[in-house]
Amino acid sequence: MLKTIDALHASADALRYADRVVVATGAGMSSESGIPTFRDALTGFWARYDPEDLATEAAFRRNPARVFGWYAWRRRLIRQVVPHPGYHALVQLERHIPELAIVTQNVDGLHRRVGSTRVLELHGSLERFSCVDARHPFPHALVPEPTGDGECEPPRCPRCGSPVRPDVVWFGELLPERVMTEAWDLVAASGVMLVVGTSGLVQPAAQLPFIARDAGATVIEVNPDPSAVSAAAHVTCRGPAGVVLPALVATLAEGIER
Ligand code: APR
Repeated sequence: MLKTIDALHASADALRYADRVVVATGAGMSSESGIPTFRDALTGFWARYDPEDLATEAAFRRNPARVFGWYAWRRRLIRQVVPHPGYHALVQLERHIPELAIVTQNVDGLHRRVGSTRVLELHGSLERFSCVDARHPFPHALVPEPTGDGECEPPRCPRCGSPVRPDVVWFGELLPERVMTEAWDLVAASGVMLVVGTSGLVQPAAQLPFIARDAGATVIEVNPDPSAVSAAAHVTCRGPAGVVLPALVATLAEGIER
């Protein structure tokens, strides 16, 4: 395995001449900014519940106020965090690459918040809403944002009257087809794929690094620990995203200025 400094140079060399780059991000990207993973967020009021009580359509239909309250609590947590420098590095990376897209498994919206422009959210977003029966879109501005912890009654769809749910992919649900098709096409056409902070265990996103590799892309992994992605990676940068990504963009910029 290349040492980190060599890995950074190898990664920068691959990116320097790449026209199309896909950056895939997972929970490790968010957790470095203090966003707990789904299970780690089950604390305090929520410690009494299992994920199946909070993240399935059946659970929402049984108890919409409980599930809606859980997502309101997670939105509140996310509003308080400060995105780490790795997010800003990805915004800068857009300036060096003709076509760059971020394909994320995260639902927290942090890539958009810092200014990344092309973000595909494979598992949906905590900040979008639709009704549970017909998936009619519902505006975020009309969603109650309680300040306390606990249950919160969801609003009703003005068109069909069914309760409004967050537009995230729950257990047992398929990924949104349009986003999935776009992501798979982008990955198959990419010259470089940067895979950051994912264990590579959650399907179908876990296929993406292997699809990129089979299609001839250079696959770069950024993760402090080995993962299932490592088998697909040509280059591995072992370290946290908040350190590695800024260093990678600085290395790339140095080479361009020289
Ligand atoms: N920088 C980069 N990687 C990190 C960091 C960091 N600072 N900290 C941890 N990691 C790595 C871990 O080593 C691990 O390989 O991030 C990975 C996180 O793995 P998972 O928790 O399995 O997250 P992910 O691959 O995104 O799969 C879970 O499925 O439930 C859905 O949407 C949910 O994103 C979630 C996904």
